[in-house]
Amino acid sequence: MNLELKTPNKIEFEQIRNYIREFELDNRELKQDQFVAAYRNNELVGFGRLRERGDCTELCSLGVITTERRKGIGKAIVKELLKRSKEELYLVCIIPDFFAPFKFQETLYYPKSIQEKIDYCTAELIVPEKYVAMKYMKN
Ligand SMILES: CC(C)(COP(=O)(O)OP(=O)(O)OC[C@H]1O[C@@H](n2cnc3c(N)ncnc32)[C@H](O)[C@@H]1OP(=O)(O)O)[C@@H](O)C(=O)NCCC(=O)NCCS
Repeated sequence: MNLELKTPNKIEFEQIRNYIREFELDNRELKQDQFVAAYRNNELVGFGRLRERGDCTELCSLGVITTERRKGIGKAIVKELLKRSKEELYLVCIIPDFFAPFKFQETLYYPKSIQEKIDYCTAELIVPEKYVAMKYMKN
């Protein structure tokens, strides 16, 4: 698969914003330089984000456009985000099985910002599944 992974420019970032709204992902404090965008034939096909939370880094706002799912794009974006991440890395999700192969492990112990994220998701992004916190276990 010929995939280009890069930080989006301003126009590309606006496109990502629209997808984030459409996919009902976390849209708070979005900043262009937090993102990795995936392009195929110059078309945006996916994106993901590393958000600095003060007490840790959070991997969030990960999305692949509907017609391009299950082709390895989400995996490629996560791998790129892992390369870029330096600090303790956490995420909150409803699909732990997707993240487990990248050495993310479910945990009940996490920083305050991650508790805040769980509370936000539970209150604002309502889904039948349970939100879980996961920590990246580098070693
Ligand atoms: C979750 C999402 C980013 C996955 O992207 P994708 O490009 O379809 O994923 P990939 O094709 O790279 O899949 C990688 C692996 O995860 C598996 N997988 C894909 N979606 C999955 C899901 N929802 N749950 C569990 N496993 C999943 C694939 O089968 C694949 O396994 P394999 O490597 O053994 O073949 C995409 O479905 C999406 O945008 N969903 C809507 C937004 C969302 O839920 N974002 C996550 C917020 S935390």
